[in-house]
Amino acid sequence: MIKILDRYFELSYSHEVIQEKVKEVAARLNKDYEGMNPVMVCILNGAFMFASDLVRELTFQPEILFAKFSSYEGMSTTGHVRELIGVNANIQARDVIIVEDIVDTGTTMYNVLPQFLNKGAKSVKICTFLQKPECLTVPLKVDYCAMEIPNAFIVGYGLDYNGMGRNYRDIYTVVEKAENQE
Ligand code: IMP
Repeated sequence: MIKILDRYFELSYSHEVIQEKVKEVAARLNKDYEGMNPVMVCILNGAFMFASDLVRELTFQPEILFAKFSSYEGMSTTGHVRELIGVNANIQARDVIIVEDIVDTGTTMYNVLPQFLNKGAKSVKICTFLQKPECLTVPLKVDYCAMEIPNAFIVGYGLDYNGMGRNYRDIYTVVEKAENQE
């Protein structure tokens, strides 16, 4: 059990399990993109750790870019997602793979995907490390998913709780505080 800020988290997925899942999804990409040079866009902040493990398993040569989008605010799940750091490279007629940490409601990816298509990309696929399938609220097609998980808040492997916990190499799930804990 670990404590981050005011919450306790217990180990759910070890580094070893994570690395196996990364290799599995990389193998799928290696098959589908063999001999190609797609643009891989790592979505900041959360996907930095997954992207760095993933690209080291690839046997094709991608161009690696980074982008950052604002999270939606308030109660709206269909609101506009604003681009904070955009891709500078010309992605006209390029095959794009969006590398994301987790698809929860799907709102972020659902809004981000058309932005790449509008820039003239030939194809845009989503590669997420995690997905909580029961939380999806939009008709989003996730092309590559390393691991499906239940609906619970997690941290580690790039994912944060109020900005903390991204550095853990394992993934932890929030637990309710026990009686004898503060
Ligand atoms: P969506 O737009 O609802 O699909 O949410 C996607 C974003 O929410 C992810 O990129 C994460 O930044 C964040 N997120 C969703 N679930 C979790 C979680 O369990 N832990 C940490 N961040 C999460």
